[in-house]
Amino acid sequence: MSADSGTTRPSPPLPRDFVWGVSTSSYQIEGATQVDGRGPSIWDTHCRRPGAIANGDTGDVACDHYHRYQDDVALMRELGVRAYRFSVAWPRLLPRGRGPVNEAGLAFYDRLIDALLAANIEPWLCLYHWDLPQALDDLGGWTNRDSVGWFSDYAALVAHRYGDRVKRFATFNEPSVFTLFGYAFAWNAPAVGEPSAFHKAIHHVNLAHGATVDVLRSLVPAASVGCIHNRQPCFAAGNGPGDAEAAAKLDAYWNGAFPDPQILGHYPAAIAAVMEPWEQPGDLARICRRVDWFGVNHYGPIYARADAGAALGFAWADPPKDVPRSPIGWQVAPEAFRDTLLEVDRRYRLPVFVLENGAGAVEQPDAKAQVNDPERIAYLAAYTDALRAAREQGADVRGYFVWSLLDNFEWGSGYANRFGLVYVDYPTQRRIPKASAAWYARLIAGQPAAA
Ligand code: FCB
Repeated sequence: MSADSGTTRPSPPLPRDFVWGVSTSSYQIEGATQVDGRGPSIWDTHCRRPGAIANGDTGDVACDHYHRYQDDVALMRELGVRAYRFSVAWPRLLPRGRGPVNEAGLAFYDRLIDALLAANIEPWLCLYHWDLPQALDDLGGWTNRDSVGWFSDYAALVAHRYGDRVKRFATFNEPSVFTLFGYAFAWNAPAVGEPSAFHKAIHHVNLAHGATVDVLRSLVPAASVGCIHNRQPCFAAGNGPGDAEAAAKLDAYWNGAFPDPQILGHYPAAIAAVMEPWEQPGDLARICRRVDWFGVNHYGPIYARADAGAALGFAWADPPKDVPRSPIGWQVAPEAFRDTLLEVDRRYRLPVFVLENGAGAVEQPDAKAQVNDPERIAYLAAYTDALRAAREQGADVRGYFVWSLLDNFEWGSGYANRFGLVYVDYPTQRRIPKASAAWYARLIAGQPAAA
């Protein structure tokens, strides 16, 4: 399958050092939320809000990765991945977010990192994939400017402990998503729905990023540091008055509010005025620190429509009815992925790593206890072709990580939507590699990736 209609010519092979990987995150897979001294996070709280999560699911057990990490590293070894991106649960290391350190929590990531290195898999450590310690949210969370110090102190702890073995660090996963969904729309934790809280959170997360880049560089001289951005084209859902403006606004928040100040030193023009009240002299220089790469998470285009009654003046909208979609309804548009990679390369001039891409489905094993997932294979084939097309057109894309290694706790949809290359039977915790896992292993091994 070719992403570039009209091009049937095979792409040149990827360089030998191209990084194939898989990604996960702490709250989505670890479970063991009340084990070995871990403190509560805002997601533990959110899962207990009636109606917040489909089916009343929680991350209490998830994939029980906390206890089964060795099996999961063995699965990665079978896939042949060179790299694994995971996140550290801040409340596991610092149960109250700051202050007393939890040695048992630190020891867990020692074991995980050592197991990865023994399997010749490079650890890519993300400091924040949304599980803020609840004790810090009680103080205002990201709306409190003190969060900059809380976060950089936590980063220093991580760097001291693991910096001898870990060199790849991401400050944040998808800051645009957790701030918009958590502080503006109130869909995700901490479920605050207030524009001023949203704008403060944006600014403080940016400051925390800048401060943490400095901390990581000073404590881990060989550190390779970046931030992971969810980047998708934003389209108007209709032709009504204000729809194009709504899409431009969503684009500024979603695609620009973090990478622009972090890498270019300014907020996008469309939101500069609303950010100004929270800025202090010198802030943009504190935010704009040299990074080594740009992390892209990409799934498919997103849509907005005008909504005068909405606090931000726009509303999230569904894709048009007639577009190709994944089994869970997300738009499939590999050419948009290619264009996104080209655009990121041109705008930010950094090496690009795709740190999440994948397809969700509602699945179950067949009578032979196998999981055939041709739609996921088709998606991954089309998107990796699009990546090759972007490289051929000059984008400096150096790695690709599938979301996700395992089926896991998919935020508001709980366990209903599965993104794994490996099926997880939650009642027994049995792992069953899907057909897509074999497909990905062949792709990595450089064998013909027949679907
Ligand atoms: C991304 C998140 C990740 C996962 C995928 C499907 O936005 O970073 O945790 O939920 O979507």
